Amino acid sequence: MSTKEQVTDLFTKTVDDWAKFYDDPAPRTLTAQNFVSRRRFAIQMIEARLEKGSKILDVGCGTGHLAAELAKRGYDTWGTDLSTGMIDYARANYNADRYQVADIEKIPFPDNMFDGIVCLGVMEYLASDGPALDEMRRVLRPGGYAVITTPSSICPFFYIDRSIINLRFGLIRPVMGAVRRVVGGKLSDASPYPKVQHRRYRKGNWEKLLKSHGLELDDWVCHAWGCYGVERFFPQGGLCRASDKFARNGAVNWLASDQLVRVRAVK
Ligand SMILES: C[S@@+](CC[C@H](N)C(=O)[O-])C[C@H]1O[C@@H](n2cnc3c(N)ncnc32)[C@H](O)[C@@H]1O
Repeated sequence: MSTKEQVTDLFTKTVDDWAKFYDDPAPRTLTAQNFVSRRRFAIQMIEARLEKGSKILDVGCGTGHLAAELAKRGYDTWGTDLSTGMIDYARANYNADRYQVADIEKIPFPDNMFDGIVCLGVMEYLASDGPALDEMRRVLRPGGYAVITTPSSICPFFYIDRSIINLRFGLIRPVMGAVRRVVGGKLSDASPYPKVQHRRYRKGNWEKLLKSHGLELDDWVCHAWGCYGVERFFPQGGLCRASDKFARNGAVNWLASDQLVRVRAVK
């Protein structure tokens, strides 16, 4: 697994990219559309269960856009994130008093403080799930709700992506390396960003794990069709948007890559 320092380094270097992801409601790329869609599903899941004025914590809040959007919709919101760069951005652009640097495994709020939690795109970067789930449950009031996203491990697009990556590293990279040596190192394929690992989740196991940590499944959707490995050649924002229509359709939503659960804290 990647260390917390590597994960923080990645997100601190990509604050500006994250700030832009949510600007366009119908982006061309799969990556940006996935984030826009999952944010919309998360807001719907919160609004379906929690009334305005409820206290909501966004853990791993990134640039703070979701806590700010929920605040605009009448919720009382806070945000925490491990990356100082992300929190600096959130404090500069939204309510400075409501954002702070903190690890999801040590949430700096008292027991039972929140009616709701949103946690989008964070679990997969952690070494394990237990400490974060226990912390989220601890700060939720009894009967409070958390909306948590994880990447699905059974999405076939993921396996196509893996094949593309294997091809790139196994075949195309050595060829590019040879070309680079011939042209005197003038070509570079080095990514400016640190590489970090993501864990993936199988629905049944994930549900059992949540339950074992006192978080009972209340809703589940799965969206985002497309291959990240080719998005630079074939923008797939439209395909991802199409999958949103099937996010609750059990016959086909297992094809998608991003799953959201809404769970209820049982205490
Ligand atoms: C993929 S980004 C998602 C950001 C935001 N939730 C969103 O949907 O735009 C993941 C975020 O989780 C944060 N993060 C990663 N590990 C964390 C940890 N242990 N505690 C708190 N935040 C963490 C990162 O710094 C990053 O801002």
